[in-house]
Amino acid sequence: MKEKFMRSQSNAAAIVTPPSQNKALLSKLLLWLLLFFSTTYVIYTLKLLSTPHTATVSCAKHILISTTTTTKTEEINRAGQTKLEHIVFGIGSSAKLWGKRKEYIKLWWDPQKKMRGIVWLDKKVKTHKNEKGKLPLLKISSDTSHFAYKNKQGHRSAIRISRIVSETLRLGEMENVRWFVMGDDDTVFVTDNLVRVLNKYDHNQYYYIGSLSESHLQNIYFSYGMGYGGGGFAISYPLAKALEKMQDGCIQRYPSLYGSDDRMQACMAELGVPLTKQLGFHQYDVYGNLYGLLAAHPVTPFLSLHHLDVVEPIFPNVTRIQALQRLQIPMQLDSASLMQQSICYDKTKKWSISVSWGFTVQIFRGIMSPREIEMPSRTFLNWYRRADYTAYAFNTRPVMRNPCQKPFVFYFSKAEMESDTNYTVSEYIRHGVPHPACRWKMADPDEVDRIEVYKKPDPHLWDRSPRRNCCRVANSKTKSLVIDVGICGEGEISEV
Ligand SMILES: *[C@@H]1O[C@H](CO)[C@@H](O)[C@H](O)[C@H]1NC(C)=O
Ligand SMILES: *[C@@H]1O[C@H](CO)[C@@H](O)[C@H](O)[C@H]1NC(C)=O
Repeated sequence: MKEKFMRSQSNAAAIVTPPSQNKALLSKLLLWLLLFFSTTYVIYTLKLLSTPHTATVSCAKHILISTTTTTKTEEINRAGQTKLEHIVFGIGSSAKLWGKRKEYIKLWWDPQKKMRGIVWLDKKVKTHKNEKGKLPLLKISSDTSHFAYKNKQGHRSAIRISRIVSETLRLGEMENVRWFVMGDDDTVFVTDNLVRVLNKYDHNQYYYIGSLSESHLQNIYFSYGMGYGGGGFAISYPLAKALEKMQDGCIQRYPSLYGSDDRMQACMAELGVPLTKQLGFHQYDVYGNLYGLLAAHPVTPFLSLHHLDVVEPIFPNVTRIQALQRLQIPMQLDSASLMQQSICYDKTKKWSISVSWGFTVQIFRGIMSPREIEMPSRTFLNWYRRADYTAYAFNTRPVMRNPCQKPFVFYFSKAEMESDTNYTVSEYIRHGVPHPACRWKMADPDEVDRIEVYKKPDPHLWDRSPRRNCCRVANSKTKSLVIDVGICGEGEISEV
């Protein structure tokens, strides 16, 4: 580093000429310039006088046409919508876990949607005939044993996985690629939302887009400026090209780092590109039940889910895979609205209601303000098991102690599009756990066992400024509650 700096300095010194020589040179140059301008002036005037007018007009026209055509192609390049086919996924995996993890990839990978991507493995794996076309290409990463790895807790596969973007680029066939999206083999992406988000950024510029960990301690140990790899992050094509040129050298400079994503961030820092933080990529560095987080998702597109092997299945009494398969139903009907919260009140019964579209509905006895309901309840545990809620990088609320305040939980069961109205009808069924006795003299939500939510699909939800949807209780017959979810009307708010 130091040597380089000194060399460039001495180069600069060589160009500088003595001041006296400088002056003479300058006056000579000025004279030449004057001569040049006066001759061009004379020639140009003569030419203008001698040529007929039409010529200049056609000349001007020609320029106009050529400029409009260039701006048009530029416009198409810039404004042309980013689609799934412009994204190349890079999935880090290993032969050891492939058998199990591939099931997660099958959930979101859809070759019919022209997806492009590669799963990078350390060793060859068995491939099955019936999986043909259901998974991305499988490739074996190149040897990285010559790279130093000096972290005692981590595993040197981090180097291999960190190089996925560079290795993918070196394969060629990068026609029309705008973005690289990295993820783990235990990550499920909501690709429609990913496309919506990436469309907001200019892929011709350098972008490194991702999200942090839920754990404040993870963010302290790693970085608050790092895109967590499991939640997934995106790198624009020109940035990937710049990265590819320097990554191998860069990785050698950080042998003591832990993972692949911190190695990536170290190289981004050398390139001077900060993380563009995009909520919705979910690293989910937590244990236990994601319910609280998913029931109060921030007002942002739901992009990914990670650590699926670590947390409980998102729906009760089914396997992890079955639970995620169920989530595909709302995802296909109205992906933009998936997990979007709306808050309303049944004024006659004095209940507070929270809908997380496509996932759950909760009824609380009494009135809870939106600012409380939009805070995730702590149904999950910290990644550092001894740490408590003070170690999260966001606000949470405790699970209610008072038996009357225990929410009545309804889980998404099925949904369909009503062909005569073009509304989605989604059904949420009461989770059959017995509720503790409550002495509050008010309507008991225990009588409700099913909730129906009507909602018009809203593919342009994220083209507008972020705002929670509104919900309204349309009908609260004893056993079945009907709720309407949609864009808030003029002056409509979630009023306590
Ligand atoms: C869980 O599933 C099993 C079998 O599908 C069923 O018999 C049981 O009643 C379910 N339990 C709950 C609490 O829903
Ligand atoms: C529903 O959508 C279809 C297809 O887009 C359209 O032809 C039809 O008119 C719509 N119906 C209503 C009631 O809006």
